[in-house]
Amino acid sequence: MEFMDCDLLSNRCRRRNFLLGAGFFTGLAVASQELPALAKPRFSDYPFKLGVASGDPLPDGVVLWTRLAPEPLYGGGMPLRNVVVRWQVALDENMRKVVQRGTVLATPALAHSVHVDVRGLEPGRWYWYQFQVGSEDSPIGRTRTPGAFNNAIKQLNFAFVSCQDWQNGFYTAYRHIVNEELDLVVHLGDYIYEYGPQSGGPRQHNSPEIVTLQDYRNRHALYKTDPNLQAAHAAFPWIVTWDDHEVENNYANLIPEENQSQQAFVTRRANAYQAYYEHMPLRRSSLPNRADMQLYRRLTFGDLAEFHVLDTRQYRTDQPCNDGLKPRCIQALDANATMTGAKQEQWLFRGLDKSRSRWNVIAQQTMLAEYDFDGRPEIGVFNMDQWDGYVAARDRLLSFLNQRQPSNPIVITGDIHSSWVHDLKLDFKNPASATVGTEFVGTSITSDFPTSFIAPVQAALSDNPHTKFFDGAFRGYVRCKLTQERWQSDYRAVSSIIDPNASISTLASFVVQNGQPGAQRM
Ligand SMILES: [Fe+2]
Repeated sequence: MEFMDCDLLSNRCRRRNFLLGAGFFTGLAVASQELPALAKPRFSDYPFKLGVASGDPLPDGVVLWTRLAPEPLYGGGMPLRNVVVRWQVALDENMRKVVQRGTVLATPALAHSVHVDVRGLEPGRWYWYQFQVGSEDSPIGRTRTPGAFNNAIKQLNFAFVSCQDWQNGFYTAYRHIVNEELDLVVHLGDYIYEYGPQSGGPRQHNSPEIVTLQDYRNRHALYKTDPNLQAAHAAFPWIVTWDDHEVENNYANLIPEENQSQQAFVTRRANAYQAYYEHMPLRRSSLPNRADMQLYRRLTFGDLAEFHVLDTRQYRTDQPCNDGLKPRCIQALDANATMTGAKQEQWLFRGLDKSRSRWNVIAQQTMLAEYDFDGRPEIGVFNMDQWDGYVAARDRLLSFLNQRQPSNPIVITGDIHSSWVHDLKLDFKNPASATVGTEFVGTSITSDFPTSFIAPVQAALSDNPHTKFFDGAFRGYVRCKLTQERWQSDYRAVSSIIDPNASISTLASFVVQNGQPGAQRM
């Protein structure tokens, strides 16, 4: 046999099935572990149609991802057999100076996805990688390791993105991201949408609303067939987290949005989480365990930046006041309400306390700052799915930032399909209270922000003096440039999501100076 890690991998596979328990994977998948692996498989078509990706970079390593799927939209088209996949990492784009190579098993249990946790790389440099299976070569991807822990790092460039509803437009924003000089892309959720086909947009989902594991796999595969999305994955390492649509709109923990039994939703969420893991460049620590999946984690870029990546869906309490946009009811002030769960909250606070990085980036989903959507001073209307529905939890975080003073907290946010900049106030009702951090909310890659919402939000700006910027008209991404002295966020906008050749421009730029929370427009 030509693969060296077979026994090790087989043991891991057995352990995984044990952890996930009877019934989580099908009997077929378990049985397939015992079959000899196919070292020279034949495929009905090119098996790397979903591209390659890398993610969660460490100073000495990175996760490399691909999935074998010659028929990506119809279950993958792979035999129910383990398949040997070779991988290699090189110092050059032509893969001549190979520094690491190995093999990994693609198994039916994980939809023939592979997640190679390469170690032994050097900090702070670019690498290229490629997979081979049988006689087929994957596209070549490029990735980068961060500088070593505590090393002085002069600069970090990254873009953050969110919300890429396939049906609403083309991923032209990613075509432009590929041309940016970045070290990293951060995705803040709504990577897929769960809905059935909707007419009227430039392209449509190819299946009804997704529920089963096969449904979620096919939906992820559909999204991953997009050439611009593939190019952005192949160009940079990514850090990903999810929001709601990777499972279902506005779900909270194990509470679904609509009429489904609790048991049915537990299964549905497990299906969604597994398919998410299978399609993302995540480390094995995120492998689903029964119905749960560990996604919150920290990634450090020398002494310059620490990313505290949150999961505000899996552990949150239900949206108060029956969700929606409305005046707060008493449940919105409930001291026991939580976005993160107690354990993740303590993990966040501990991490902020221990951080030695200049910039502490809290990468998360829904808007943290208060926003009163009603412009009349005497009436408050808030979004119950955002931190505005979880006031006590937000107060704990903002009080922590005020008391413990971690270095330069910057919150980056997705979800709302529009661009915002907020000063994070200890007390949003009192403009004179301390500014304890800064929040940059990025617009969507494609997902819709109805034009009818724009004027009412603008009309309420004067009632929300901590909000420094709002735009609802444009889609795109936020490009961030960090140095030891300052943070700069450029709101990059595509001219159209209907025109695949749309141009890119900068809508607005904001800076935060080291040691001075709050954003200034350039
Ligand atoms: Fe979204």
